[in-house]
Amino acid sequence: MTNIEIHPVHSTGGVPGLGDFAVVTAAVPEPGPGQVLIRNRYLALGAVLRTLLAEGTLIARAVGEVAASTDPAFPVGTGVLHRSPWSTYAVADTSALRTADPDDPLSCLGGALTALAGLRAAGLRPGETVYVSGAAGAVGSAAGRVARALGAGRVVGSTGSARKVALLTGDPAGGPAGGFGFDAAFDHRAESIVSGLARLGPVDVVFDTLGRVAELVEAVGPRTRIALCGALTQQLGGAPDPRLDLTAVIGKRLSLHGFTAADHPGLDAQLAELGPFALPHSIIDGLAAAPQALLDLFAGRHAGVVLVRVDAA
Ligand SMILES: NC(=O)c1ccc[n+]([C@@H]2O[C@H](COP(=O)([O-])OP(=O)(O)OC[C@H]3O[C@@H](n4cnc5c(N)ncnc54)[C@H](OP(=O)(O)O)[C@@H]3O)[C@@H](O)[C@H]2O)c1
Repeated sequence: MTNIEIHPVHSTGGVPGLGDFAVVTAAVPEPGPGQVLIRNRYLALGAVLRTLLAEGTLIARAVGEVAASTDPAFPVGTGVLHRSPWSTYAVADTSALRTADPDDPLSCLGGALTALAGLRAAGLRPGETVYVSGAAGAVGSAAGRVARALGAGRVVGSTGSARKVALLTGDPAGGPAGGFGFDAAFDHRAESIVSGLARLGPVDVVFDTLGRVAELVEAVGPRTRIALCGALTQQLGGAPDPRLDLTAVIGKRLSLHGFTAADHPGLDAQLAELGPFALPHSIIDGLAAAPQALLDLFAGRHAGVVLVRVDAA
């Protein structure tokens, strides 16, 4: 039995290309005490991998099944969520595992839990207006859905192209060709957040995945609560954010809530009560196709969460 692994190749920096990845065939690793061998079923791709790739690491959130075990709490066949190298098989410490259903990868690899954590951190109340930046991404698209489920009165967003603006505001009932169900959206590459939000109207809560916080502080009105989720612009090669205007933060009584979903394990049950969520996604078949899919994600060619079906041909 062999293990297909994709390794990062030492990068010279700049925009990554296919030369930054190497496909390697190796022996399947053996689990030691307190470990299991996992046959990966799905890996999640994300912008965070741009930073990891530059650092020489390819680790992704993954769901799979225990294929060999030294721990009776995780017998063979158990579905598990873990952080995995890009490989068909991986060994993991059972202390780092959570059980999960490999036949329902979106529920554990989609962005809904992060979305709920951020919207709770910002204290979203029914009837309020939410602005989601980076709204076509894995977490942003989930934030739109979760905000609705929490009773948001109006959900607006921004994304990086006119094509994706149309996708955001399309009707989700339109099947696979349908949209993400946002009430309104703007292109944050074609215009500033200040100008976009001025047209879309006042917001109560911001779910921010872009990290253009200085602009946000200028754009929003008094007492806006901002959940700081990510920094896509900096992660994907954009300029660092300029310094925050602290007098504006104070003068407008803004609340900035940094959060990580990992801090809120109890949210799983709340999410289950709110859902299920039909999360926008694409599935890429085969581990060998993952490098190109990741480059496409970095270039903004995907929308929603991008999963790699590891065991496909
Ligand atoms: N706090 C937490 O617990 C937590 C958890 C998960 C993720 N995060 C963070 O949240 C952020 C969003 O994660 P995600 O998984 O939703 O991201 P993602 O789906 O991997 O993001 C991909 C999107 O990034 C956009 N993009 C591409 N190039 C860009 C650029 N130069 N500047 C700005 N955007 C660009 C593209 O959308 P456009 O075509 O619209 O540009 C693309 O659809 C990331 O920063 C991630 O690290 C935080």
